[in-house]
Amino acid sequence: MLVIVKEDYDEMTREAARRVASLIRKKPDCVLGLATGSTPLGLYKELIRMYKEEGLRFSKVTTFNLDEYVGLPPTHPQSYHYFMRVNFFDHIDINPRYIYVPHGMTEDVAAFCQWYEEEIQKAGGIDLQVLGIGANGHIAFNEPGSSLGSRTRIKTLSEQTIKDNARFFERFEDVPRYAITMGIGTIMEARQLVLLAGGRGKAQAIKETVEGPITAMVPATIVQMHQWATIIVDKEGASLLSRTYDG
Ligand code: F6R
Repeated sequence: MLVIVKEDYDEMTREAARRVASLIRKKPDCVLGLATGSTPLGLYKELIRMYKEEGLRFSKVTTFNLDEYVGLPPTHPQSYHYFMRVNFFDHIDINPRYIYVPHGMTEDVAAFCQWYEEEIQKAGGIDLQVLGIGANGHIAFNEPGSSLGSRTRIKTLSEQTIKDNARFFERFEDVPRYAITMGIGTIMEARQLVLLAGGRGKAQAIKETVEGPITAMVPATIVQMHQWATIIVDKEGASLLSRTYDG
């Protein structure tokens, strides 16, 4: 596991963008696993800049998003479909046919989840998976206690995640309680993981992820078992780490 500590948020997301761009240049038809949330916004901004200014092309890239809220249609401003369009897909030359985001309005969740897993396999597996991390150590919506071998499925969001997400909704009652999420087993099959975390609020989760024992109670700790996992943090996110890591 490689831990890279960057000065601030911008440097952290630029480093992640360099890694994603380098993969796309080497393998233009690569398969990316993508995350939503505040953390990867800078990564998407930088990739859009590279598309506009440096000729980075996404036309052959396939993407699979980690998760989506159950009950929100793709047009809902807080849905992850909407987030991805507004913050990334609408600004690059990606082929809409190659974009996969779990569907929050699906009627048969189990069949949908199985289909999603099969599509990942058919695409050849995920080459690089971008991950954020929750303050409670969740990855995607695999909350504490999730099976470390889990596959794409429906999950109940934890109280903490519901509270963390409340800032995006007008009323607390509107915050979705369920999500469809890739499982931890699904994520671990990606050939490369790039986990991003910035700010004091993530410092404890990062300490446990990098230096703690592997436990389902902090799902992100499983990345210690991945051969090609890179954790990129800013100084604040790294502030509780007890050892020195690469800059
Ligand atoms: C979203 C996702 C979540 C977020 C996590 C951190 O697709 O997978 O696990 O990465 O909740 O969210 P932010 O970046 O908003 O702190």
